[in-house]
Amino acid sequence: MKALVLAGGSGTRLRPFSYSMPKQLIPIANTPVLEYVLRNILDLGVTEIGVIVGDRGPEIRQAIGDGSQFGAQLTYIPQEAPLGLAHTVAIARDFLGDDDFVMYLGDNMLPDGIAGIAEEFAAHRPAAHVVVYKVPDPRAFGVAELGPGGEVLRLVEKPQQPRSDLALMGVYFFTAAIHEAVQAIEPSARGELEITDAIQWLVSSGADVRAGQYEGYWKDTGNVEDVLECNRHILESLKPAVDGEVDDASELVGPVIVEEGARIVRSRIEGPAIIGAGTVVEDSHIGAHTSIGRGCAVTGSRLEYSIALDGASVTGVQGLRSSVIGRSASVGTSGQSTDHYRLVVGDHTRVEVAA
Ligand code: DAU
Repeated sequence: MKALVLAGGSGTRLRPFSYSMPKQLIPIANTPVLEYVLRNILDLGVTEIGVIVGDRGPEIRQAIGDGSQFGAQLTYIPQEAPLGLAHTVAIARDFLGDDDFVMYLGDNMLPDGIAGIAEEFAAHRPAAHVVVYKVPDPRAFGVAELGPGGEVLRLVEKPQQPRSDLALMGVYFFTAAIHEAVQAIEPSARGELEITDAIQWLVSSGADVRAGQYEGYWKDTGNVEDVLECNRHILESLKPAVDGEVDDASELVGPVIVEEGARIVRSRIEGPAIIGAGTVVEDSHIGAHTSIGRGCAVTGSRLEYSIALDGASVTGVQGLRSSVIGRSASVGTSGQSTDHYRLVVGDHTRVEVAA
């Protein structure tokens, strides 16, 4: 068994962050999404992993290297443009050979792991095994219609009128039968070779295609709201650890990680929360479900349910909530009492001030 991890794509829904970093490296509890993906694959005992990368490949390579620190053997497979999930299978043909493989979208978070899915695949070894998840509005996903025995009857990519509430998750198990399907399909209306169409091709040609319903936690971290919600969920299982300094005038309440070299000064941190290495939190109140990255400075501020990426600074701002602050970005007050806001806001950035 091999694995194919998809870490290319354009990440338009995660702008502005995806302008400067691949969305698969967005940190959840200070760890890139892609690292959670690799760990889930390694937990299956699968070590030969192909990683599809687009124009942000160098940053991905820098973050996860050759995988040896995780015990993985990574093969990077460059994709010249985001031409679709099925296109990635086509360009990975030499790497995959005729082996069974798990295809895992590099922005999907499944903290409860994929061992159960792998077992279901191994039990029947169908041509394709997909995983579905009940969602209230499946229009942003591939949607599956299943028969009474869990067999797949029909798959449609992002339908306007979904015929079920079962979204396709970004984890698929395949035998080598998928390669013929990938060669047989045409690009969709949005110009991509869709894996949904390839699997539908297998269904239409009478191949065994099965689906399992996932019972664990799942999030596609494709937009900011989902990133925050996933961060909340992952922080909930945080084991507290204080490797940095906390002065006597500060208070940690609930599970809090203070990484090495971080300093908490005259502040209150309400867990679950994580404060990254080298960060200084001073005269501030950090509320629950907040991740502060490495090398940040939070001074005289109050924030909760938020994420600050590495190098960010927050100064003199009270009541930040549901906020994501990009790398080395600064949010602060002017230091003077004025009747206006001053913003230097990048493309596709969102700012919300009190009404
Ligand atoms: O998350 C589940 C959904 O993922 C499924 O329900 C859909 O059926 C499936 O098509 C996919 O939809 P998305 O719109 O979320 O796909 P996205 O474009 O975000 O790409 C998913 C991952 O694959 C992401 O990490 C980027 C990567 N990718 C994407 C494309 C189109 C590539 O590496 N190459 C590509 O050409």
